[in-house]
Amino acid sequence: MAEQTIPLMENLVSLCKRRGFIFPSSEIYGGFGGFWDYGPLGVALKRNVENLWWNFMVERRDNVVGLDSSIICHPRVWKASGHVDHFSDLMIDCKGCKRRFRDDQVEAGKCPFCGSLELTEPRQFNLMMQTYIGPVFDEEHRAYLRAETCQPIFVDFDSIRISSRQKLPFGIAQIGKAFRNEINPRNFTFRSREFSQMEMEFFVHPSEDMQWFEYWKSERTRYYRDALKFDMDKLRIHDHGPDELAHYAKCALDFQFEFPFGWQELEGVHHRGDYDLRQHSEYSEKDLVYFDDQTRERFYPVVIETSVGLDRTILALLCAAYDEDEAETKKEDKEVDRRVVMRFPAAVAPIQCGLLPLSKKLEEPAQAALQPLRERFRCDFDVTGSIGKRYRRQDEIGTPFCLTFDFDSLEDHSVTIRHRDTMEQERIPLDQIENELAARLAAF
Ligand code: GAP
Repeated sequence: MAEQTIPLMENLVSLCKRRGFIFPSSEIYGGFGGFWDYGPLGVALKRNVENLWWNFMVERRDNVVGLDSSIICHPRVWKASGHVDHFSDLMIDCKGCKRRFRDDQVEAGKCPFCGSLELTEPRQFNLMMQTYIGPVFDEEHRAYLRAETCQPIFVDFDSIRISSRQKLPFGIAQIGKAFRNEINPRNFTFRSREFSQMEMEFFVHPSEDMQWFEYWKSERTRYYRDALKFDMDKLRIHDHGPDELAHYAKCALDFQFEFPFGWQELEGVHHRGDYDLRQHSEYSEKDLVYFDDQTRERFYPVVIETSVGLDRTILALLCAAYDEDEAETKKEDKEVDRRVVMRFPAAVAPIQCGLLPLSKKLEEPAQAALQPLRERFRCDFDVTGSIGKRYRRQDEIGTPFCLTFDFDSLEDHSVTIRHRDTMEQERIPLDQIENELAARLAAF
C-alpha cells in the first residue's frame, strides 16, 4: 500500500486533475482560492456518495424525511441562529507582508508567512458570505448565503412536521451547498469556501436525548463501516471537552479521519439542545413548540444533529483509495512497472464496469452484447489503445471490473472478466454476465 504522506496528496491532486475528478474553479483565470469544480468522474463520485447517505439516512427509515430549501433565506434567520453576531474567527493582519491569518496560527508573536513582528491586534472577522437582494445595495437589502444547511430545517420544522404527519422522535435531512468566507482555505478541498453538507436534525423528547445521541453515534459508525467500507483504523471518535462545546450544547463528538495531513474532522454529531427552535420562535414570533397529544405536554424538542461535509467525505474516499502497486506486465529491461489504482468500494466507484472490445473490429458486436448492462450498472465503453493501457486507465479511476470482448467471444459467447484488485481474469458466458456482475459488485 502507498505510504500516507504529503507526497500522496500531491499525487492525488495531480490524478484528480489529470482524470477529471476535481480541479480548481476558474482555472483559466488562475483559479479562485477555496472554490473547486468536480469534473465528469468527480460528479459521478459525488452523486454516488450523496445517494448512499440519502438512502442510509432517509429512504430506509420511516422517521426521517427530506428537505431541499433555498440557499438564501430571510436575513433574520441568521440573526436568530447567532451567525450574524458570532460566526467569526479572530484574525490578525501582518503590517509587513499585508497577509491576514487566524489568531491561532501565530506563534511567538511572529507572522507565519514572513516572520515580521509588526502585527495588528486580533479582530473578529465574520465568515458569512453576503449578497444584496433587489436593486439597492444597502444594509436593508443585505442577505446571506447559508453557512450551514440545518437552519432552514429548524425554520421549516412546523410545516414539515404537519405535512408529513410526523410525531416525535423524527428527523429532517438535507443535502446542499454551504458557504463560508474561510480565511485560509487549504488542504485541497478539505477547507473550502463553497462546499456541500449532508445534515440531519433529529427532534426528540428532552428526556430521551442521550439515548438518541448514542443511537446516532452508533448509526453513523455503521454507515462508515458498512456503506462507505472505511478501514476503521482510519476513523476515530473525538468527544468534545467542555471548552469545545457550544454554549447551548450538552455534548458533541467528531468523527475524525486520518488524512495524509493528519487526523481531521469529517463529521460532527451534536446535541443542540432546544436552542434553535427557541431562537426561531422568538425572532419569528411563531411558536415552534411541540404539543404531544398523548401526554398533553407542550415543550421544545431537543435536537440531535449529524453533520458531515460531502467534499470531505469524497476527499477521505480519494485518500483511502489511492494506491500504487506492481502491474501485471513488466518492462523488457525487468524494471518493475508500477500501476496507480484507486481502490474505491463498488458502491461509490464512478464507473463499475469497463466494456472493452479487444479490437476496433469488434466494436459493433461488443456494443450489441454489452450495451444492455448499462441499464443496470455504471459502464464505460472504451475502444482506444492497447488492452493493457485500457486496463490501466480503468484501474486509475477505480473501476472494479472490466469485461473484454475478443474474437473468441463471437464463437463461444463468453467474455473475460478482469478484477481490478487481484488483476485475475476468468471467462464468463454472456448469458450469465449480468447476474455475475451484480453478485460480484454487491460483494465488492
Ligand atoms: N450544522 C453544524 C455545522 O455546520 P460544522 O462543524 O461547522 O457544523 C459540519 O460543519 C461539517 O461540514 C464538518 O464536519 C465538515 O465536514 C464540513 N465543513 C465545515 N466547514 C467546511 C469547509 N470550510 N470546507 C469543507 N467542509 C466543511
